[in-house]
Amino acid sequence: MITGKFPSLRLRRTRKYTWSRKLVQENNLSTSDLVYPIFLIEGKNKKQIIKSMPNIYRYSIDKLGEIVSKLVKNKIPMVALFPSTPNSKKNQYGSEALNENNLVCRATLFIKKKFKNDIGVMCDVALDPYTSHGHDGLLKNSYVINDETNEILIKQSLIQAQMGCDVIAPSDMMDGRIGKIRKALDKNKFHDVQLLSYAVKYASNFYGPFRDAVGSKKSLKSDKKNYQMDFSNSNESLREVALDIKEGVDMVMVKPGMPYLDIIKSVKENFKIPVLAYQVSGEYSMIKQSINNNLINEDSIIESLMCFKRAGASAIVSYFALDIVKRL
Ligand code: PBG
Repeated sequence: MITGKFPSLRLRRTRKYTWSRKLVQENNLSTSDLVYPIFLIEGKNKKQIIKSMPNIYRYSIDKLGEIVSKLVKNKIPMVALFPSTPNSKKNQYGSEALNENNLVCRATLFIKKKFKNDIGVMCDVALDPYTSHGHDGLLKNSYVINDETNEILIKQSLIQAQMGCDVIAPSDMMDGRIGKIRKALDKNKFHDVQLLSYAVKYASNFYGPFRDAVGSKKSLKSDKKNYQMDFSNSNESLREVALDIKEGVDMVMVKPGMPYLDIIKSVKENFKIPVLAYQVSGEYSMIKQSINNNLINEDSIIESLMCFKRAGASAIVSYFALDIVKRL
């Protein structure tokens, strides 16, 4: 690999000028690498502040046009929708997930009608925004039960597909759900609806602000360690991805992002499939608040996103997507 030695070889030579640095730049970041998450709330004309996530808001459906237009104008390829469900609509079964008139369904219909295929819509499949206990599935003796949960996730996916969702994204970490959802989609003639599995999702401490944003933080009394992955493990992530590939997944997600670059890289190298990274809420808030406190500068955002490209991610789900479009 090394083709010379000092003093004839000086690696600083190509770093001297901007044009030269550009010439040898190995990775690029553009707006087409980004997915923007949007939080939804009931009501009219609402753009509600989220205290734990500076500059991120919950939008009522009638306010979506504004924000999605901005994304389309800036050529961001996809939005990810997350509902903040009113407590009155939550119960232990998460049945609001199957309401064809719920926030995510209405938002999907609205965006697809107004923007057609100028932007993709990705919907989360999991029950946590809808359950009174804040878990992603059904509880029995405080344990999230797998197969019974899958039956509901299949229905949730079919409803989302009916509404026009382009990318179904199960983030629940139940075993076997990808194959079952794929089969149900195909049986109902949704062959072209894509499946993005959160194949590698860790039981992470970095999801706090998100849980606050969707309103599951207070209800969640325990952790999610009996279904999300142990952050000490890496080989297990390859087993998760291998299974989901067998079950027919189109793309996989690794989540969280920055503390898991090693995982992104090894998934990419082992399977050569599209890998997305999720720069999660806790990562966002740490960086954003440090910028707001003048501890670090705004270029840290680009740096934090470029490292995902370096690791091999095809795209990054990031709350910074709109912040940085002007700089790309
Ligand atoms: C829930 C879900 C979570 C996130 C996305 N989907 C939270 C969790 O698993 O508790 C987290 C995203 C973020 O922190 O930005 N299925």
